[in-house]
Parts: sequence; C-alpha cells; structure tokens
Amino acid sequence: MNDLTAGKPQPSEQTLLTHPDFELGQYIPFVYHFHMLADEARMGAFQKAIAATVRSHHVVLELGGGTGVLSYFSAQSAARVICVERNPELVQAARRFLSVNTNGARVQVVQADAFDYLPPCPVDVVICEMLHVGMLREKQLQMIQSFKARYLAQFGLPLPRFIPEAYFQAVQPVQQSFDFHGYVAPGPCFQDPATPQPRTRELGAPVLYHAGSYEDVIALDCSWTGQLVMAQAGHFNALRIITKSVLAVLVQEQRTIDWTNQYLVVPLVQPTEVAPNELVTVGFRYQAGDPIAALQPRLIRP
Ligand SMILES: C[S@@+](CC[C@H](N)C(=O)[O-])C[C@H]1O[C@@H](n2cnc3c(N)ncnc32)[C@H](O)[C@@H]1O
Repeated sequence: MNDLTAGKPQPSEQTLLTHPDFELGQYIPFVYHFHMLADEARMGAFQKAIAATVRSHHVVLELGGGTGVLSYFSAQSAARVICVERNPELVQAARRFLSVNTNGARVQVVQADAFDYLPPCPVDVVICEMLHVGMLREKQLQMIQSFKARYLAQFGLPLPRFIPEAYFQAVQPVQQSFDFHGYVAPGPCFQDPATPQPRTRELGAPVLYHAGSYEDVIALDCSWTGQLVMAQAGHFNALRIITKSVLAVLVQEQRTIDWTNQYLVVPLVQPTEVAPNELVTVGFRYQAGDPIAALQPRLIRP
C-alpha cells in the first residue's frame, strides 16, 4: 500500500501502474523537481509575484507544494503557510528542506489530495503551480475550479487571491525540423522560450485560442478552430503551443509579473506548403488535463 492511495479502494499492483494518479503530470518524479528548482525564469517570476502579493497578516495556502519552495517564498512575508502535497516522498522532502530554511517553521506541510483538502480557516492567498504547457497533463484548471466551489460552500465570499491570477494560450504556425541525424521522427517537442530554436521557422504570428482569469468561471475545454495568417512561405508542418501565466497584476505599477511555460511543438496531422498572406484554418480538440497525445492539430480544408 502507498500513501497516495490511502483511504481509497486499493488497486492491484498491476492496475496501480495505470492508475490515473500515477500518470506523468499527476505524479512528478522527485528528481524532476530539481529541474523546476533550477528553472531561473520560473523561480524568479514566482518569487517576485509572491513577494508583491503576500502581506505579513496573510494566511497562504499552496496546492501541490512539491519540495515546498513556493511556500518558503510565502513564509518570508506571511503569518502562516499551509502547503498541501499528495506525494509522500515530496512531503518528507519538503518538511526536511523547510526545517533548514529561514522561516520554514511558518510552513505546515499537509499530506493530502488537494482535490479533497480545505483549510481549517479562510485564507488570503492560494498558490497553485500545476501548470503544464497547453494546460495539458497537469490538473491546474480542474484544481482551482474544484477548490473554488468547495471553498465558497464552506466559507463564502470573498475568494482568496490566486497566484497565478490568469492565463493566456496561443498557437503559432511553424516549420519544424523533425530530422534527428537523418532519422525523421515527427513528434511533440519542448522548447525553452528564452533560447533560440534553430529547428523552428516561425511562419506566422501567435494567435490566442484560450484564456481565463482564475477568479472567473474556468473553461476546461481548450478546443479551437481558427485561421492563421502566414507571414512567409514554408512547409507548415507543426503548431507551437504557448502558455503564459500572469502570476501577479501590479495595478499601481501598471505591470504584470508573467511566466511562460516551455513551448510545445506538435506536428500537424497533414502538413502543407504555404504562401505569404495565405489564411490556413486549423482545428484541434482537447480538455485541460488531457495527455499531450490528445492534442492532434488538423488542417481544415475549405
Ligand atoms: C509542477 S509541481 C510544482 C511543485 C511546487 N509547487 C513548485 O513550484 O516547485 C506540482 C505538484 O503538485 C502535486 N500534486 C499534483 N496533484 C496533486 C493533488 N491532487 N493533490 C496534492 N498535490 C498534487 C505534485 O505531486 C507536484 O509536487
């Protein structure tokens, strides 16, 4: 038996491997958390957004705390932080790391499924970083949607402030090289947004396909059909998916603190040659939290 499944009907060892709680995204291996800790853009943006949002009287709740780093950032200003994590290996690690970090004692690490958990009192700020490009794999949108419904039923308004506050998702037509030392393998590729991508030719500007604010009703359906304008000729064989989160809106300073997930490039089902100024209609269907394979962009012929 594993604590991940404590209190629930126990699957056999065979079915455990295919249990949805163990799919990549729901379960993120411990070593992978160190890539996230080493991701300067992610860490810097969250640290700044938390420092700009959290005040000394605040109670902060983090959903999906991992190694506890965002709770640690919060503890530098907050009165109290509750860090909820489901994976027992990470719960242990977070407790260990927090015990040797400044103000770590202000963080209470709770082992629980955040889909069930409610804090014992109203909270001022909720942090949730279950963000994956395209809102695929991880359950960020479902988590906030579920939390809001349960929180309102228990405590009523006002809702806490959310970090992130909002998200924007865009698609960009690209010509992608899937040639790896002469071996052609069209498949999904991740890209660092801050690094030049020699395998990618941008054929047109990104177009928004899905967006939302966490304080509003959250749309889980990310399906889209729309037109992309080609800025140059090329072999249109893939879509680049761009997901940007607004971590904090600083109204007085008239700016936002943003973070962009790694880009995802997915091959088109039927590539096509395109000309400058050509309008190409593309469509795909998926729900937030679906596996990457659910995103299969297709050309829609007139
Ligand atoms: C992308 S990681 C982020 C970890 C940490 N917040 C950070 O920024 O480094 C998402 C975390 O959410 C946890 N998680 C996923 N689903 C969860 C659930 N239903 N309940 C509690 N934690 C969950 C995962 O185990 C993982 O540690």
